[in-house]
Amino acid sequence: MRTIFWDGCVKLIDQTLLPDKFEIIECRRVEELADAIKRLAVRGAPALEAAGGYGVALAAHERDFSSVDELKEHVKRAAEFLASTRPTAVNLFYGIERVLKAAMDGNSVEEVRQLALSEAEKIADEDVERNKQMGKHGAKLLEDGFTVLTYCNTGRLATVDWGTALGVIRSAVEEGKKIKVIACETRPLNQGSRLTAWELMKDGIEVTLITDSMAGIVMQKGMVDCVIVGADRIVRDAVFNKIGTYTVAVLAKEHGIPFYVAAPATTFDWGREAKDVVIEERSREELIYCNIKCKQSLIAPSDVKVYNPAFDATPLKYVTALITEKGVIYPPYEENVPKILGF
Ligand code: MRU
Repeated sequence: MRTIFWDGCVKLIDQTLLPDKFEIIECRRVEELADAIKRLAVRGAPALEAAGGYGVALAAHERDFSSVDELKEHVKRAAEFLASTRPTAVNLFYGIERVLKAAMDGNSVEEVRQLALSEAEKIADEDVERNKQMGKHGAKLLEDGFTVLTYCNTGRLATVDWGTALGVIRSAVEEGKKIKVIACETRPLNQGSRLTAWELMKDGIEVTLITDSMAGIVMQKGMVDCVIVGADRIVRDAVFNKIGTYTVAVLAKEHGIPFYVAAPATTFDWGREAKDVVIEERSREELIYCNIKCKQSLIAPSDVKVYNPAFDATPLKYVTALITEKGVIYPPYEENVPKILGF
């Protein structure tokens, strides 16, 4: 099953409930989808790309319009609203803009609706295809018997299907290699323990859960052959990914362990530098409660000062290679990224 899909409205797996409950939610209004994005019911850069695209299509379908101009105005406003939900993953904006552009070519209400939806469906289909390509390229880096440390969730749930970093691992396993995974829990929202561990166990891929603070000891003990993570935005000098990725990258360098980043071309924002990127800051509740959903059990004084950035920037000097659907890219990135991705 896809993480997000169209079935008369936008349907998606509510990732906030996993691994306790598997539930599909229906978004019939753009507001509902925007809320799902903000509370991370749908998350992960490529899944957000699809969500952005489907969100614009949903705007065209969510009510009646008396003219095509009224519909186009509504769709434009919805696109702006969707773009205001989360600032860091560039894929969200790519998905929104691509479908908006397609929709604006329509000359009737019906045509705008049809163009928007078919473009959104194309984005979703392309995501699955490019993840498989990325997987094939990346699997060449994994030897039989490797143990891979990963961070956050970069699997089926973070994409439409298959995954980026977890897609590489899946592809290697599909080729017959025995791969073990060490999953960091990924505080504060536990995408590693709740989602990565759940996904890999469902697929029968051996996974061991550690806390984020254990990444150092497993490297020091020689338990890790390489690290693979995903990305929310790759700029000329850094990779933006879930908070804590930078720490893992520095540790990997210290221990001489390859650090790979798997991401599609739509995650690249090559015209920008790290200083230009907004890092999302999330609520204090995510840090002070044991369970953000029920907000009951405090794990910090309720009035403590909190800093909760959701992403960090790993300078490209820590990245051994970038795994994309067009191939594996090695340094010098300044030269090789535009050459391979055609920017
Ligand atoms: O806040 P999230 O859960 O949306 O953050 C997701 C990540 O940081 C992922 O590692 C990234 O989007 C790559 S997903 C293939």
